[in-house]
Parts: sequence; structure tokens; C-alpha cells
Amino acid sequence: MTLTIRRMKNDDLNIVTEIEKVVWPDDPWTHEDFIDSNNPWCYCWVLEEKNELIGYSMQYFDSDMTSHIANICIKPERQRQGLGKIMLNHLIYIARLLKAISISLEVNATNSKALHLYKAFGFEIIDFLKDYYPTGDAYKMKLHLLTNRCDV
Ligand SMILES: CC(C)(COP(=O)(O)OP(=O)(O)OC[C@H]1O[C@@H](n2cnc3c(N)ncnc32)[C@H](O)[C@@H]1OP(=O)(O)O)[C@@H](O)C(=O)NCCC(=O)NCCS
Repeated sequence: MTLTIRRMKNDDLNIVTEIEKVVWPDDPWTHEDFIDSNNPWCYCWVLEEKNELIGYSMQYFDSDMTSHIANICIKPERQRQGLGKIMLNHLIYIARLLKAISISLEVNATNSKALHLYKAFGFEIIDFLKDYYPTGDAYKMKLHLLTNRCDV
């Protein structure tokens, strides 16, 4: 499997918003939402296999050196093949590269797939957000990237 992760382009938006409508039918991001997110503080990524777009994600960076994952999405028919892990690894790599001290995100409290994924990478639940989404409650999760460990 030859995979590429690259920055999202306007040409990707038709496919991305089609996937978005399938995965989040109640509240999909639109073309405009993605275009608004294409700013110096947000990286929109796509995951491709042989030029086929199979996933995407949005990653924000704040002035306080923290990063925030707004979404990770793998095309439904390509889920559970290790691609979410590959995308999340990439986001953590970029956050470390840019010297972020932590990564936070919100996840629907009933989204067990995503909760498993984030917990497997060491994200911890730090808050419960009642009615955060139109579809229900959320957890706020955080991964600390700095440790006190001294590698000598
Ligand atoms: C959540 C999501 C990104 C995971 O991507 P994926 O490619 O299916 O996940 P992977 O195959 O890399 O699996 C990674 C881990 O996620 C968890 N996971 C994935 N699918 C799961 C399932 N159906 N049930 C339970 N855990 C699951 C597991 O911990 C898994 O690790 P394991 O295979 O070693 O047990 C994907 O399901 C998705 O796009 N869902 C819709 C959008 C979404 O909910 N995004 C998160 C928004 S916060």
C-alpha cells in the first residue's frame, strides 16, 4: 500500500465534502468551512493511495504552542485498515516538529471508534462537555507532548 499525506487543495473539496456528508450527515463541513480553515494557523491534510483520496484531517495551532485536531476522517469503506493510526501519527509528528506542547480535541461521547483510537495514542479525557454537539455530549481529550524525561 503506497500512501501519501499532503496539504489539502481546493481541487480536493468536492471529494472531501462528499465523504463529509456520508460520515457526518447531521452536520457536514461545507466547501466554505474548509476554505475558511485554510489559513496559516490550520493545516488541512489529505491521505491518498494511488491518487485516490481516502481520508483527511484538520489541525490547528494556537499562539500558546498548543495544537488542536478538528477532525480526522477516513472514508467509510477504508476504515479499520490502520489508516486512522497513520493519520494521527502524522498529526502528532507535525505537532512535535512545530514544538507544540500538547494536542487537544473534542470527540462525541458515543464515538467509541475514535475514543479507542485516541486512548491508544495516550490521549486522556480532561473534561465532559454536556450538549457540545447538536447530536450529543462530548469529551475533551488532551495528549501532552512534553515529558520530564531526560534522555541521556
Ligand atoms: C475514528 C476513525 C478516524 C478511525 O480510523 P480507522 O482507519 O478506522 O482506524 P484504524 O484502523 O487505524 O484503527 C485504529 C484504532 O481505532 C480503534 N478503532 C477503529 N475502528 C474501531 C471499531 N470499529 N471499534 C472499536 N475500535 C475501533 C481501535 O483502537 C483501533 O486500533 P486496533 O485496530 O489496534 O484495535 C474512523 O473510524 C473514522 O473516520 N470515523 C468517522 C469520523 C470520526 O469519527 N472521526 C473522529 C472525529 S473526533
